[in-house]
Amino acid sequence: MKKVALTGIKPTGIPHIGNFLGAIQPALKLSETCEARYFIADYHAINTVKKSNVIRQMSVKVAAAWLACGLDPEQVLFYKQSSVPETFELSTILMAYTPKGLMNRAHAYKAILQSNAESGKDPDDGVNMGLFTYPILMAADILLFDTDYVPVGNDQFQHVEMAVDIAQSFNFIHSCEAFKLPQALAHEQSKTVVGLDGRKMSKSYGNIIPLFAAEKELRKLIMKIVTNSQTIEEPKDPDTCSVFALYKCFATDEQIKALRQRYLAGGMGWGHAKQELFEVMNAQLSPYREKYNALIQDSAYINSVLQEGSLKARELASQKIKLLRGIMGID
Ligand code: ADP
Ligand code: TRP
Repeated sequence: MKKVALTGIKPTGIPHIGNFLGAIQPALKLSETCEARYFIADYHAINTVKKSNVIRQMSVKVAAAWLACGLDPEQVLFYKQSSVPETFELSTILMAYTPKGLMNRAHAYKAILQSNAESGKDPDDGVNMGLFTYPILMAADILLFDTDYVPVGNDQFQHVEMAVDIAQSFNFIHSCEAFKLPQALAHEQSKTVVGLDGRKMSKSYGNIIPLFAAEKELRKLIMKIVTNSQTIEEPKDPDTCSVFALYKCFATDEQIKALRQRYLAGGMGWGHAKQELFEVMNAQLSPYREKYNALIQDSAYINSVLQEGSLKARELASQKIKLLRGIMGID
């Protein structure tokens, strides 16, 4: 039996290099050996984005990004979360098996509490219940499809661990193995991709490199990556440098070794290092960019692919819900 891989991306902004390296690329690699289920997490997005035109446009863009990077809808179950309403039934079920204290410990929620405390606001200012219970909905996405592996960036690991806790709680209470226990997967070098300012690349920090930035924009953004004020002559430390960290995600082992030497030897300016980064990134991304630009013109095709995926996903999901209802005595 093949293992099941599942991941989702929220349609909250344009896909960026962090999404590509942390989620899309590893997920597509896994789809070669696993049963893959990849989706647009639109009901997660509405916790923070209330503009309908943004949700609508970004849903198409995120879907086009997956397809442009090589997702084959014949191989991968590809759907919108909102088209699989069984997800929301499972989310309601899981609420009853999730201690509130578990949600209190979620990093994302705690970060908001802390920032509210620092600015003297009410602790729960700006926190809606969707945000508070976010890990439960994510657990529903994952547990609905008997997922083994969840390819995600580091920021999502805690959510997957919570899905395991919730699954175990249900299995224990009903003395059954209704839920498989999922595992988050990330590669060492792409688990936290850095942005232009050296922090984690994220839509919410405004430090992203869009995955499909045109060549000129890509070069301009790379030239903006923050470095230190060392002169050309000085030897430089590759291991503390954002340019090198990104380079490692795109270059071959040989190229990485060669650039490392140039850093350590001195005589190479930041402009040169950035040019090297631009070249490897552009070479790898330009075929995807071309495909994306063509696909994005054809939203009818994208929607039809998603619709077909949703039908298949619902078939699987409804079987799971039926099983769970039986276990709980809801027939
Ligand atoms: P953002 O943080 O920009 O809002 P999302 O939350 O939509 O991004 O992330 C979608 C997927 O991309 C998740 O699996 C997340 O872990 C991954 N991801 C996002 N940013 C990064 C990053 N900087 N490094 C590694 N993975 C990332
Ligand atoms: N929470 C993820 C993010 O913010 C998106 C997501 C929703 C997801 N449901 C998921 C990821 C299920 C993996 C599995 O990026």
